[in-house]
Amino acid sequence: MNRNWRELQLAEKHSSRAIKLETEQIRRAEAGDAVELEAILNQVFGPGRFARTSYRIREQSGPDPRLSFVAEAGTELVGAVYFTPVATPQQSGALLLGPLVVKPEYARRQIGSALVRHGLKTAKTLGYRLVLLVGDWPYFRRLGFRQVPSGQLTLPGPVNPARFLYFELQEQALDDFTGPLQAIAPPYNSPRL
Ligand SMILES: CC(C)(COP(=O)(O)OP(=O)(O)OC[C@H]1O[C@@H](n2cnc3c(N)ncnc32)[C@H](O)[C@@H]1OP(=O)(O)O)[C@@H](O)C(=O)NCCC(=O)NCCS
Repeated sequence: MNRNWRELQLAEKHSSRAIKLETEQIRRAEAGDAVELEAILNQVFGPGRFARTSYRIREQSGPDPRLSFVAEAGTELVGAVYFTPVATPQQSGALLLGPLVVKPEYARRQIGSALVRHGLKTAKTLGYRLVLLVGDWPYFRRLGFRQVPSGQLTLPGPVNPARFLYFELQEQALDDFTGPLQAIAPPYNSPRL
């Protein structure tokens, strides 16, 4: 079994709160969530988020709607995660995770971890092979992410290599992805589509 995947399952086993969140409080994002989500993104990231390299990718296409999830506490929307399909010139089947966001008032309740785990599991069932992101390694390493070897993949803009991370949904998947990453429009050319 892929090491990343085994670590994820072990982490889940030891986190009953995350499992509870997955089954009861995480659901697919809907069109009606947009305004509330935008308010959370503004609160957490501010308008500067549009200048980020990850946004260059996201604005090229858009997230896979099957992998856009929100977390709710009662009727309040408290977090979200999206995944945008990306490809190199030779290889499709990858995703760029982001944004991942949790309202500061709800931080440290495993909501962020549960959203990521739920997204990774669903992405695997859809046939995706690799998840990439630009984010804090100290946070994402706990979920099994590692640093992309310097120079193997590029994004359309500058990225701190220490923050460019990957998670393999299939063993050795990263080896097949080299060169410039771009968003791909639907149909995403993932094996199950
Ligand atoms: C990062 C974020 C999603 C974490 O959400 P969360 O629901 O609070 O996370 P969890 O409850 O799953 O995990 C909390 C743990 O992660 C740690 N943590 C949170 N953010 C961290 C970071 N940026 N770096 C390192 N550790 C971090 C917390 O200290 C906590 O540690 P503890 O378990 O030892 O107390 C949330 O803080 C957030 O929205 N941050 C701003 C946006 C962002 O940075 N998004 C990720 C990049 S796209």
